[in-house]
Amino acid sequence: MTKPVWIKHAAQLATLASDVNGPRSREAMSELGIIEDGSVWLEDGVVKAVGTTAELEQQYASRAHEADIVDASGHLITPGLVDPHTHVVYGGSREREFEMRLEGSTYMEIMNAGGGIHATTRMTREASEKELIEQSTRRLNSFLAHGVTTVEGKSGYGMDLETELKQLRVMKKLQETHPVDIVPTFMGAHAVPPEYKGREDEFVDIVIEEMLPVVAEEKLAEFNDVFCEKDVYTPEQSERILEAGKRYGLTPKIHADEIAPYGGAELAAKVGAISAEHLLKASKEGIHAMAEAGTIACLLPATALYLREEAAEGRYMIDHGVPVAISTDANPGSSPTTSMPLVMNLACISMWMTPAEALTAATHNAACAINRQDQVGSLEVGKLGDVVLWNVKNYQELQYLFGVNHVKSVWKKGVQVVGADGEKVVSNPGVVLERS
Ligand code: NIG
Ligand code: FE
Repeated sequence: MTKPVWIKHAAQLATLASDVNGPRSREAMSELGIIEDGSVWLEDGVVKAVGTTAELEQQYASRAHEADIVDASGHLITPGLVDPHTHVVYGGSREREFEMRLEGSTYMEIMNAGGGIHATTRMTREASEKELIEQSTRRLNSFLAHGVTTVEGKSGYGMDLETELKQLRVMKKLQETHPVDIVPTFMGAHAVPPEYKGREDEFVDIVIEEMLPVVAEEKLAEFNDVFCEKDVYTPEQSERILEAGKRYGLTPKIHADEIAPYGGAELAAKVGAISAEHLLKASKEGIHAMAEAGTIACLLPATALYLREEAAEGRYMIDHGVPVAISTDANPGSSPTTSMPLVMNLACISMWMTPAEALTAATHNAACAINRQDQVGSLEVGKLGDVVLWNVKNYQELQYLFGVNHVKSVWKKGVQVVGADGEKVVSNPGVVLERS
């Protein structure tokens, strides 16, 4: 049995508790449930009590000696961050493409010439399960060091049954071996394999008839995603894939309107997707349809910056009733980063979101985008003991001092996994890995 942990005297404890239990929009995105001189008691993997230090001193007067006590005076505490959109499991890397883009090639040109997603697909097909686990473990360690305790992960670098299953099985193994929780999404239609160019419908049939049934049968994914984009999959093809996934119990997600306006936001609302991702070029009609349907906008400002594109209209979306979540989109091409703190900074700088909204988007709303709001995204009794202690005194400072990793310590399910100096990552209780 691990010892209880009592983190006390936080200058600010942002619990993210609110009356709105579902995805939050408009003013509800600014409700951080802040407690000054805050305390949280973690035991048996979950939050057992949260309140002012005075309240917990009373409640735990007779048990204080049992706990590891952490003095958080002068520091901010938040729930563990949630990253609701990553491509964390893949083989190799694509640093040469970064250089090529700086020499003038566009992201889509590189992809259409067989690079981009296709290059990573080749490297992922070649990688053994063991290699993928090793590479992905290093990325998850980096997520953890940046305060992220839950991520979503997508397949999509296989585009054949064998490799799609390999990616999803690797996620299942990582779920068992790594402290970061990983929520799996099937994305068989992440690009059009070169041999199916011009015959996209045939590949859509393969995704629907040959891949989805096996993924569902082996219970390897909860969500089903598609790259709905000009020169990739049309809204009609995307709809077929998402509707087919629904018949197998997979909830739709959609990469929409990233490069060109294409009706992706409208489609997300129509099929009842839990979230639509990217949305850089989403139409006003599409945004309003999402607000109406309650679709979460999962915005990826690091991707926009990396592709030198104008960021999505986060401010407009929040003001018009769309719940906004944010994410790294961690992937080897358009956003090679694991830094959710940077993404929060960029949400403020490039999408006019307030510091409070950015924190909600990276915690509670992000949890809603992967249907985990009953477990993570806020510090409330019964939820997981996933906590970040930051080297800043309040949530405003967290977003103000930008581009810096302010993480001091992280607890996952009540166990400390990032040490007091943020230098070590503990992958399992007792096993200390150097951060790479
Ligand atoms: O979300 N847009 C499509 N897929 C990824 C990029 C993947 C890659 O370049 O490898 C994205 O940005
Ligand atoms: Fe993505």
